[in-house]
Amino acid sequence: CGIVGYVGDKQAASFLLDGLAKLEYRGYDSAGIAVFNGESIRVEKSVGRLASLKDKIKDDMPQGVMGIGHTRWATHGRPSDRNSHPHTDCSGDFVVVHNGIIENYLTLKEDLIEKGHVFKSETDTEVVAHLIEEVYNGDFVASVREVLRRVEGSYSLVFMCSKHPGMLICAKQDNPLVIGLGEGENFIASDIPAIIQYTRRTYILNDGEMAVLTKDSIKISNRQGEPVTKKVFEVNWNAEAAEKGGYEHFMLKEIHEQPKAVRDTTSPRIAKDGKSIVMDELKWDADYLNSFNKIYIVACGTAYHAGLVGKYYIEKLVRTPVEVDVASEFRYRDPIIDENTLFIVVSQSGETSDTLAAMKEAKRLGAKTLALTNVVGSSIAREADQVIYTWAGPEIAVASTKAYTTQIVLFFMLALYMAQIKKSQPAERLAELISQLQKIPAQISETLEDVNPIKTFAKQYGFNEDVFYIGRSLDYAVALEGSLKLKEISYIHAEAYAAGELKHGTLALIVEGVPVIALATQKSVYEKTLSNIKEVKARDAVVIGIAAEGDEELEKYVDHVIKVPETDELLIPILTVVPLQLLAYFAAITRGCDVDKPRNLAKSVTVE
Ligand code: G6P
Repeated sequence: CGIVGYVGDKQAASFLLDGLAKLEYRGYDSAGIAVFNGESIRVEKSVGRLASLKDKIKDDMPQGVMGIGHTRWATHGRPSDRNSHPHTDCSGDFVVVHNGIIENYLTLKEDLIEKGHVFKSETDTEVVAHLIEEVYNGDFVASVREVLRRVEGSYSLVFMCSKHPGMLICAKQDNPLVIGLGEGENFIASDIPAIIQYTRRTYILNDGEMAVLTKDSIKISNRQGEPVTKKVFEVNWNAEAAEKGGYEHFMLKEIHEQPKAVRDTTSPRIAKDGKSIVMDELKWDADYLNSFNKIYIVACGTAYHAGLVGKYYIEKLVRTPVEVDVASEFRYRDPIIDENTLFIVVSQSGETSDTLAAMKEAKRLGAKTLALTNVVGSSIAREADQVIYTWAGPEIAVASTKAYTTQIVLFFMLALYMAQIKKSQPAERLAELISQLQKIPAQISETLEDVNPIKTFAKQYGFNEDVFYIGRSLDYAVALEGSLKLKEISYIHAEAYAAGELKHGTLALIVEGVPVIALATQKSVYEKTLSNIKEVKARDAVVIGIAAEGDEELEKYVDHVIKVPETDELLIPILTVVPLQLLAYFAAITRGCDVDKPRNLAKSVTVE
């Protein structure tokens, strides 16, 4: 999750440890450094906090003027000393640190094992260290280039080799990497906070670029090996702004990280031909799935809202009945569960105590358990029979954003996977849905392009006491999440209602000027939603409609419209939630609230 590198005249370890400390805020579960002493490379790593690594080496610091370091947020392989970076090849001559996911690591690993390589960890990264050893031909740069040709996935990578003193090589694809320009020394970091104490002059690498650093030179090239000339980016952020990647708050940063988070969660699970879902983690078959007559989805907060969307996907595509419940309710109501139940829990942190307890209860009653979580090695991940991960990366803001969207895409893929096995949908329909899914990251980026209209609404309506969200079917599930975001961070009373249910109570609260956010993206209930919108308009509410591009109808009935790109209506929640997250964010700013740390709330609730 955090990467640092140093080449110069000074002791590398001191910068490496300091730089990693500056990246601690991002969250991690283990740390390590590798330093070249002029002859060989010494690797020191430790699970847990950076302090335990420092403690381990305090009386015997690795000496040398070139080194790399890493703080790990576990993906492949649970947090442990062995799985921590840096990773080495068999000889110990090559060391590598990596952020991201090497998607074809299993194929590469099998091939390398056949060639005699012995692996020490369960990580995808170690494959890169062995691969460079395998292809090495005396030319370090050419060998790294060859490795990059063979690996697929996302990465920021730094390579060091004891046969090439004074040279570090780094490469970037879909993960951040910056180079800090010093005097007689140069730095590498995954994020600016690690280096701003040392230099403010940087090169920001782009995807497909590789850089070769010595203490006096930096050579950047593209995928074809052609030299790239870069402008120096002078960082003028203070340390606090740098931690947030230049964004004002973690929440805004995380909202903008959604295209990447969704891409990281989806692309390793889509088959090469784009026509089927691969879930190596599960390896289910028809007999196993047919043994379930019921599925439960249990979670808390935002994860519960993702579960509501999950229910819709599974019922629609797989035709197995799904019940969704909040964990604190489920536990105490003598649930009807047996070995024919598949019990799915959803949890960003993997530590929510109600969710964990609900899962233990389901297990006790004989259900098979599956966890959808973001944290490898978390309590819920360890306790569940099986786990699938959202690759959202650490989420720091209390209000969940990128975890929610990745939970939804993961449910979507899970439903497709089940439908594939049970043959409950025609193959062409599945292929079409997968092709739509692949467009989602770019479509989220499009949604994030112009946030000004949303900012304006937030300023206009941010001081209202009540806001209502309405929608039907999947739009209702998103309405619930939108209203939760608003109340969590702006403290405005927000209520989401199934649009058809308005007339049974909530309509009494709709008076002149009350803002109503109306989602209308689901074709089968579009006309019905429209008549609900007319009902609130007739009571002089101010209606902000959320629709898909191509909808020319809605604007005739509402005061403002926010449009999101067109996609299959099953996938549209991933897009419609984005303006709702932004609306909550800007409303909180308008009201001067502490966006990242709302009052009375915690990121992870480990008490009942
Ligand atoms: C807390 C957080 C929410 C989160 C919920 C469930 O309330 O503030 O953002 O949705 O816990 O957390 P989990 O980690 O289990 O998804």
